[in-house]
Amino acid sequence: MLNLDINGRRVTVRKGTALLAAIREAGFEVPTLCHHEALEPYGACRLCVVEVREEGRDKTRVVTACNYPAKAGLQVETESEAVVETRREVLDLLLARCPGSPVIRELASSMGLHRSSYPPDQNRDNCILCGLCVRVCEKLGFTAITMAGRGAEREVAAPLKEPPPDCVGCGSCARVCPTGNIPLVDRDAMRRIWDRDFEMVRCTSCGRAYITREYLESRVEASGLPASHFELCDECSRSRTAQTMYRHMVLDDKEASHE
Ligand code: SF4
Ligand code: FES
Repeated sequence: MLNLDINGRRVTVRKGTALLAAIREAGFEVPTLCHHEALEPYGACRLCVVEVREEGRDKTRVVTACNYPAKAGLQVETESEAVVETRREVLDLLLARCPGSPVIRELASSMGLHRSSYPPDQNRDNCILCGLCVRVCEKLGFTAITMAGRGAEREVAAPLKEPPPDCVGCGSCARVCPTGNIPLVDRDAMRRIWDRDFEMVRCTSCGRAYITREYLESRVEASGLPASHFELCDECSRSRTAQTMYRHMVLDDKEASHE
């Protein structure tokens, strides 16, 4: 375990904890756009900046909390003048890049920034190049989309800019995208994403179309479990587990009262 100070509060965390996690454990919040707890830190959006002073040092530094380790004796400020100024500059640039993104506009206006001081990029979509969609796809083992191009041309794309053959239509990229930049449409038991159409399978309990056939098959293959294990949507699966647990508890109580 190690001790550090966050906004003047003494905090104890495990060695190896990321500073962002330590800040959140201490009950403070810093905004993030490219961070997801299930994925490795990426440090792309620079919104999670905080000011730190390391033990024995006079100078402070502004660092990104998501990929900076919590250290013994560290002093951290999450809302100092330098932090607010840096975060405002980051949002100023993001606002120019994605002037149409409600998420970016909301974050910017929470800092009193209603218009970017840079010329707005009218030709862009709402992608902030946070890489979450690509990373979640990799994490799930599909690698259907990728980051392509350099500099101003950099973008998220399918290989050869064709509908990605390795996509199983799980929709994780669209769900994780902080700006809602990846269109996903579910209609009449069909899903459209990345210019591909996927047939969806219905839950055997409620009848809702809840998973694409390709994703279901990949889950069966990866888990080694029978297809019947995945025949329920998440909601029905949770409710069935709760019912089973309840039945066990009632039976256990009855058995105990007969002893
Ligand atoms: S499409 Fe969304 S998740 Fe993917 S890099 Fe762009 S902003 Fe991030
Ligand atoms: S959340 Fe830390 S850089 Fe994006």
